[in-house]
Amino acid sequence: MKVFVYNTTQEASEKAYDVFENAYNNGANVFGLATGSTPEGLYSEIIKSDIDLSNCISINLDEYYGLDKNHPQSYNYYMYDNLFKHKPFKKSYVPNGMNKDAEDEVRKYNQIIDEHPIDFQLLGIGVNGHIGFNEPGTPFELRTHLVELTPSTVEVNSRFFDSIDEVPNQAYSMGIADIMAAKEVLLMAFGEAKAEAIKALIEGEVSEDVPVTCLKNHTNVTVILDQGSASLLSK
Ligand code: F6R
Repeated sequence: MKVFVYNTTQEASEKAYDVFENAYNNGANVFGLATGSTPEGLYSEIIKSDIDLSNCISINLDEYYGLDKNHPQSYNYYMYDNLFKHKPFKKSYVPNGMNKDAEDEVRKYNQIIDEHPIDFQLLGIGVNGHIGFNEPGTPFELRTHLVELTPSTVEVNSRFFDSIDEVPNQAYSMGIADIMAAKEVLLMAFGEAKAEAIKALIEGEVSEDVPVTCLKNHTNVTVILDQGSASLLSK
């Protein structure tokens, strides 16, 4: 695992762009993407660059159950607004939160991943160590599934909504098995709230109680941190 710590999120996002561009230059064509605050700087760097993603495929990690793709807090909308409208991919996949038939949505999404094996997977990390929406206790062998979000995740994510009651408490998420199958993984984490989960990733044991620790078993992982998320590391 390669770990880099930066003083500012801007420097960290520039480094993340270098890692992304390097993967692209080495032939990566299918990019697994994440939403949230953390990758916003990376997406700005991608937009500023002259990289051409129009022959590439993107597959997002997750989507809230019950939110339409035009809902301003949906991950479909986030991706359109933060990246795709500026830098289109040949084809972009995000789960369909409006598909109430979970079995059907899961089958379709797993088929998409099977048809487009992920070369490069971008990840943020939850305060509780979740990746995608794989909450603590999720079996590592699961693929895409409908998740019950933990109260802590609902609370953390309520900052994007007018009130906590509007936050969906379920989401479709790729599973840990899908994330682990990616050829390369880039994880970004900013802020002290992530420090415990990052310590568990870098210095702890592999445990389903802290989903991100699965990455200790992946052979090509880069971790990009700021001082806050690195603050509990012993060296
Ligand atoms: C989002 C996702 C989540 C976030 C995590 C951190 O697609 O999969 O795992 O990466 O919740 O979110 P932020 O970056 O908002 O702190």
